[in-house]
Amino acid sequence: MSERDDITRGLRQLLELDRAFGIEFLPRVETPAVSVRRPAESPAPVPVAAAQEALASSEPLLPAAALAAIAREVAACKRCGLCSGRTNTVPGEGDAAARLVFVGEGPGADEDAQGRPFAGPAGDLLTKMIAAMGLAREQVFLTNVVKCRPPDERQPDASEAAACLPFLERQLLAIRPTVICTLGNTPLRTLMGDPKLGIISMRGKRLVWKGIPLIPTFHPSYLLRNTPAKKPCWEDLKVVMQLLKEHTDG
Ligand code: URA
Ligand code: SF4
Repeated sequence: MSERDDITRGLRQLLELDRAFGIEFLPRVETPAVSVRRPAESPAPVPVAAAQEALASSEPLLPAAALAAIAREVAACKRCGLCSGRTNTVPGEGDAAARLVFVGEGPGADEDAQGRPFAGPAGDLLTKMIAAMGLAREQVFLTNVVKCRPPDERQPDASEAAACLPFLERQLLAIRPTVICTLGNTPLRTLMGDPKLGIISMRGKRLVWKGIPLIPTFHPSYLLRNTPAKKPCWEDLKVVMQLLKEHTDG
């Protein structure tokens, strides 16, 4: 992100705060070019609403602030039954300015114990896959469809995924990455809104979620049990790398 984008986002956030605190006008500050004398009459104040409109955008908070707000909401969330079995919520982690987001299924035992995504053996493999792409884990964002651990290592059911989906959608819209990579069936079905999709037939395809390229691939837990699937998975990750490169070059 350019420095200018950063400044614009920062301004947007300040204006939003102003309005939240009931401030409707900003003083017009003019830097005198030659004289240091103040003008006899203060210039007309600038309406905050007009300034906000000038910076209009659908993304009101800086991504990092938006992600932190989502994590706080997740920590208090009781929207589905998974809340009762959790030790920690696992909202996700990584760079708020990431160009690549991996979406898994949900926390397992290690993730639930630590409050961090992909903290166990599948996470170790995913970290290696990210390194093979020439990236560090800290440069991407890692999250899951559900933010609380399903009991007995079962998959989240459709109603749990649906209850939690607004958090994932808000995370993705706050980050607006160049590419989303879904891992396994659950994030593919949930984000594409089609419970019949299967990763075996869908991998290798280029999908789109709300205008963002989405590349579905296998879940690293599946790769741990099915080593031959690593090869097609690597093909998928190469497509992800190509999309990242095209975006940089273009
Ligand atoms: N599997 C997932 O889908 N997500 C995690 O965070 C860890 C393992
Ligand atoms: Fe809330 Fe998601 Fe946890 Fe369910 S899984 S309680 S919707 S944060």
